[in-house]
Amino acid sequence: MSDTPISDFVRSYNESGTVRMHMPGHKGHPLLGPEVLDITEIKGADFLFEAEGIIRKSHGRVNELYGSMRSLFSTEGSSLSIKGMLAAARAFLGADAKFASARNCHRAFLNGCILLGIDPVWIFPGKTSTSVCASEVTPADVARALDADPMIKAVYITSPDYFGNMSDIRGIAEVCHSRGALLLVDNAHGAYLKFAGEGLHPLDLGADICCDSAHKTLPALTGASLLHISKGAPDWLAEHAAAEMSLFASTSPSYVIMQSIERCMHELKNGLAEGIRDCCRQVSECRKRLVAAGFELIGDEPMKLTVSAAAKGYTGEELAGYLREHNIEPEYADRLYVVLMPSPFNRPGELLAVTSALEALPGRGAAVICDDPVITVPKKAMSPREAYFRPFSRIAVEEAEGRVCARTAMSCQPSVPVIAGGEVFDKKIIKILKNYGIFFADVIE
Ligand SMILES: Cc1ncc(COP(=O)(O)O)c(C=O)c1O
Repeated sequence: MSDTPISDFVRSYNESGTVRMHMPGHKGHPLLGPEVLDITEIKGADFLFEAEGIIRKSHGRVNELYGSMRSLFSTEGSSLSIKGMLAAARAFLGADAKFASARNCHRAFLNGCILLGIDPVWIFPGKTSTSVCASEVTPADVARALDADPMIKAVYITSPDYFGNMSDIRGIAEVCHSRGALLLVDNAHGAYLKFAGEGLHPLDLGADICCDSAHKTLPALTGASLLHISKGAPDWLAEHAAAEMSLFASTSPSYVIMQSIERCMHELKNGLAEGIRDCCRQVSECRKRLVAAGFELIGDEPMKLTVSAAAKGYTGEELAGYLREHNIEPEYADRLYVVLMPSPFNRPGELLAVTSALEALPGRGAAVICDDPVITVPKKAMSPREAYFRPFSRIAVEEAEGRVCARTAMSCQPSVPVIAGGEVFDKKIIKILKNYGIFFADVIE
């Protein structure tokens, strides 16, 4: 049985010479290249959110590979999968159920909350942190939140976070399930974790539902994401998740992206899984060499390198500039860190070249000190949804103290909220925003 039913259909459709009197308007003409793979929901091509044919078969290949009860495709990234998972959990749990989330969520979570009228209860880590991105929420932090409010019926965790920190999903799942709450995980950065080693993927650690951006760490086209419902989750979620996802999705999903996901799954069965493990081994070697060269690294994700430049006397941005001089483009840089995301699809020797370039960087004077304030719980005036639909105006961030935030403020990358809609600006928040280069704020009039 073929493991690429969608690609097989598209190939035979192209070979059939059928006159295309349907969308898209390019009719397969290769203006850019991939048009020949780009069809729409014609007869035989199935429907993404009511899949019964080739898409259903292709979904089946993914759920075998990941060991899920059901896996679904998104061709609009995890940004769509996240909204779909929130809608499914909300529809299943009912309107009275509350959702708690670790604060380091991606903006897609907040957008979903605004659209669905979820007023999230934030879980801030017990341990002090100066990074809005850091995922340091522990099972004890989650237990405290759930015990304080029995109406919390769903917990949302972002792990791995943008810097490669992984939460104790197993511990958090135990806490959630012992108190009757669902565990939802944003695993956008961890699609490869299933293949990197035992017990790393959220589905193997007790998450009920999670999303994976296939495009971030697997060789899939941008926009490719998976929504998995675990075997331990209520059947209702598996039965209804696709319909819930369709609430926010285009009715013209990309068959190019679906074929790309399929191809990825085929590769995973045919050598890519070993390639991922090998890449993780190389990353681990690189990590040791960088530590020996005086760098500090954070995060425990096995295929990511988050290098702190501070100990060598540089900012992350300076380090990124140095890498660019060596023709290396990092994923992200800020005042302290540079994030590097290698994969088995980097050409041989590229990771070694990155390592050698970093080793060759001389230390420079005193360590760079981060003066970010410790993240604390901001005062809240109203829900993100209520704030979103109020009249608002844009003012200089220095003038925002005491004003209510209308629209979540965050830096473009990593898209983690410094202040969410409905919260009140204080001095600390203003300082963090300025440190991220955000100089204007939308406040309620
Ligand atoms: C933690 C996290 N979640 C979700 C997303 C959204 O994923 P996508 O780009 O696949 O829509 C991102 C994107 O960077 C992310 O970093």
